[in-house]
Amino acid sequence: MASNSSRVPGQFLLGQVLFFDPEQGSIDGREQTSRHLSDLPGSFADQVAYARLLEQNPLLYQVTQVEEQNGPGQLHYGIGILMPGKVGDEYFMTKGHLHAWRPAAEIYVGLRGRGMMLLEDEQTGRCDAVPLEANSVVYVPGHTAHRTVNVGREPLVYWGILSSEAGHDYGTVGARNFSKVLVDVEGTPTLLDRAAFLTKLQANAR
Ligand code: NI
Repeated sequence: MASNSSRVPGQFLLGQVLFFDPEQGSIDGREQTSRHLSDLPGSFADQVAYARLLEQNPLLYQVTQVEEQNGPGQLHYGIGILMPGKVGDEYFMTKGHLHAWRPAAEIYVGLRGRGMMLLEDEQTGRCDAVPLEANSVVYVPGHTAHRTVNVGREPLVYWGILSSEAGHDYGTVGARNFSKVLVDVEGTPTLLDRAAFLTKLQANAR
């Protein structure tokens, strides 16, 4: 089509050009990796709600990583789309991870939707939530576990850009999770201590 004649993706003599869809959170010609609810056992606090929703096993998010350039000074980047929804009162979210090379920071750029990032400093244990939404940029420092959360009603789409040497460590977060949860309290996204939220869930179950 003539309207696409200027869209020439690929590897050039200097640099690489790809085209992406900020609505679908996809990159032209690249395959998305999908994560469903069943891929995140143990991530959500409310295990009863998790088990119930597992019967439908909804799609939680898709990511497309561009990791062809490797070595000192090179970058990796990827686009993610995180669906709206909740497990009990806890919003849909990603697994979360640390970087295998702990000092490696990362930039997240929001393209669409309304989300938050849970950030937890591995050294101090401090945990906070910051907004990630259309036209916002979040700087994730090194040594900081990070997880994306969709607190809105439409898909959340964002870029992540980091050193090619960062690597991903999912195991550490998988083993002990974040110390806080982002839950819907009467329509408002609210950051609560995981332990306090679990106590409340147990009290409600009685
Ligand atoms: Ni990361």
